[in-house]
Amino acid sequence: MIETRMATERAFLIGVDWERDGWDIESSMAELAQLARSAGLDVVGMLTQRLPHPHQSHYLGAGKLEELKARQAITPYDVVLVNDELSPAQLRTLEDELGVKVIDRTALILDIFARRAQTREGRLQVELAQLEYRLPRLTRMWTHLSRQAVGGVGLRGPGETQLEIDRRRARQRITQLRREIAEVRAHRERYRQRRRQNQMPVIALVGYTNAGKSTLLNALAGSDVYVADKLFATLDPTTRRVTLPSGRVVLLTDTVGFIHRLPTMLVAAFRATLEEILEARVLVHVVDITHPRAAEQAATVRQVLAELGAAHYPTLTVLNKIDGIEPNLSPEELVREFDLDGDVVPVSALKGTGLPLLLERLEAKLMEAERVREVTLVLPYDQVRMLHLFHERGHVEDVSYLPYGVRVRGRFPAYLLASLIPQLHPVVEREGQRRPIERMNRYESHIPSPQPFPKHSV
Ligand code: GTP
Repeated sequence: MIETRMATERAFLIGVDWERDGWDIESSMAELAQLARSAGLDVVGMLTQRLPHPHQSHYLGAGKLEELKARQAITPYDVVLVNDELSPAQLRTLEDELGVKVIDRTALILDIFARRAQTREGRLQVELAQLEYRLPRLTRMWTHLSRQAVGGVGLRGPGETQLEIDRRRARQRITQLRREIAEVRAHRERYRQRRRQNQMPVIALVGYTNAGKSTLLNALAGSDVYVADKLFATLDPTTRRVTLPSGRVVLLTDTVGFIHRLPTMLVAAFRATLEEILEARVLVHVVDITHPRAAEQAATVRQVLAELGAAHYPTLTVLNKIDGIEPNLSPEELVREFDLDGDVVPVSALKGTGLPLLLERLEAKLMEAERVREVTLVLPYDQVRMLHLFHERGHVEDVSYLPYGVRVRGRFPAYLLASLIPQLHPVVEREGQRRPIERMNRYESHIPSPQPFPKHSV
């Protein structure tokens, strides 16, 4: 496991305020500060600048950069944290200019992930993502791939030859990590198959980091999953049994917290872990209602779910931490007051408020997800391996092989269809013709979600 820095370093935060997404710079910097603290850094100062784009070579404008250097004398810092991902050239220039270590948002999140990952798979995934991030940046302060080598201020690498050796080692390690991850995944797939045979429905908790998923899992299962007021306390899915009001037992699984602008290499690295979500029959989206950016956080979560192909999954939204909002309303009053629809349940995972209502709604959602529908659809030939799922989980009435795919008619549970929508793209049969699914109206009523069809499967 690679660590980027020592624990008690003093961090100075910098950010460019530019047109990037819906987040204002204050919220974005506040999140960066929280990330820094989660990584054990001591935040000593902050500086932002409004620019159309970050400066191509040194991120901040020349004047601001001088100001940042001058701050060293007043507020000494050991590391500068940047609120964007830097190019290798920007990183090098900034480190040269400032004479201290510079860590961008991606590296910081990777570092937090590295510290939190608990299972072997999680650790391998993070190390791979870190190496892929670092390979093009392997120079000077980043040489040696070790904490010692990057710890000191003004450290310089021993030159090209060493750099070449480091690069070769990094590439070898990347190959080895990929192999090991493939082995772990194969093992995990076998475990999943066994679990599928057990037929116990899986319900996945999803949500922005720090929303309270682990706390909720603890509260519902009476278990003791790691809870911490730090971002990304959970990096590996943790699964517990939970009994619903009818006495039916389900598996409730915690997943890694999502974050705004989650580095793409991390999404890729954690794909397998996140794919646990795709095994779920129902998703429980936990939202921290006390957070000032709760709506944006929820949107980020929905976006990541869509990227995973889970946009159409039956989802129950849980507004958590209601003990922290004023006035102190009961869950029922809150639903009335905020005009929330039936799919939203307010709770306090910490105080245990609203949990019976949540379990009731969960059971109803599960029943809805398991409701059987009569459908005819066409699986493209590259998705034909899905056919066994129809046999396993539904009742196949007819299968016919067409030039462009396999037509399947039968009765299948809604959750199965929801999980297959991305794979069904782009062909569904209509009057014997091959048609893109988004232009197809006739079968829409058989497909469980009113949302638009995704353009691409992921
Ligand atoms: P990640 O692992 O980062 O994804 O976080 P998580 O969503 O699993 O959050 P976790 O359960 O670790 O909780 C984060 C913080 O929120 C902890 O300090 C919890 O004590 C706190 N918390 C969770 N639920 C509640 C709640 O209902 N009310 C209040 N006030 N705090 C809560």
